[in-house]
Amino acid sequence: MLGIFDSGVGGLTLWREIKKRHPKESLLYFADTAHMPYGEKSPSEILALTKLGVQTLLDHGATHILIGCHTIAVHLSQEFINSFSCPFYDIASATLLLASSYQKIAVIGTKATIASNFYQEHLKDRLIAAIACPELAPMIEEGDIHLSVIKRSLAPLPKETRAILYGCTHFPFIDPYIASLTEVKDRLNPALSLAKILPMVATCKEDIFLTSGDPEKFYSLASSLLGTKLSFPLSVKSLYY
Ligand code: DGL
Repeated sequence: MLGIFDSGVGGLTLWREIKKRHPKESLLYFADTAHMPYGEKSPSEILALTKLGVQTLLDHGATHILIGCHTIAVHLSQEFINSFSCPFYDIASATLLLASSYQKIAVIGTKATIASNFYQEHLKDRLIAAIACPELAPMIEEGDIHLSVIKRSLAPLPKETRAILYGCTHFPFIDPYIASLTEVKDRLNPALSLAKILPMVATCKEDIFLTSGDPEKFYSLASSLLGTKLSFPLSVKSLYY
């Protein structure tokens, strides 16, 4: 079973695209909501939480791991990935692939993603701005969208921007609001590229959701963001202090 990991509901933008391409694929999803936002944490905290998160997915039957969070993906090392003996996919690789056909890109992400310099180093001259938007993912996670917060977050966007790259998996959920605030036509959601390259892993079972936060809250927010009734999440205890 493919196990998707994110700090919250952001990885569901991947879940949505995978289901569009492979409706019969069964997915296991872990939202480490108790520790959200990862974007405000240090690289070592992010990796310590990820180690526990991936182990939680493996303990619940994952055979393949998908990191559905840029904040984690930009901090992964080969050594970290090799410490798990299972196929490992991450959203950052798909993001680089997608961005390779655009110029004058402004990437927007969490504070930790932008501070990592990952996209600045890999996209080089294609990038004209890398903008930290620390308010957006927590706002989406609360299910309480404010246009004024989105407007303030996008204020540093340069006029010459040709493409906005969603460098946080939460952001595609507010794409209609972003579209209403900018003239930029190309708004890039790497989840689409990722869904194209992922293999089918398992079918026939029900999807399983896990959360370290409030299961009721995750259930109602996730169901409303995806516009479909999901199975009720299992609560997992947080092992991280
Ligand atoms: N969804 C995560 C990402 O793609 C960010 C959310 C957080 O800050 O925890 O970076």
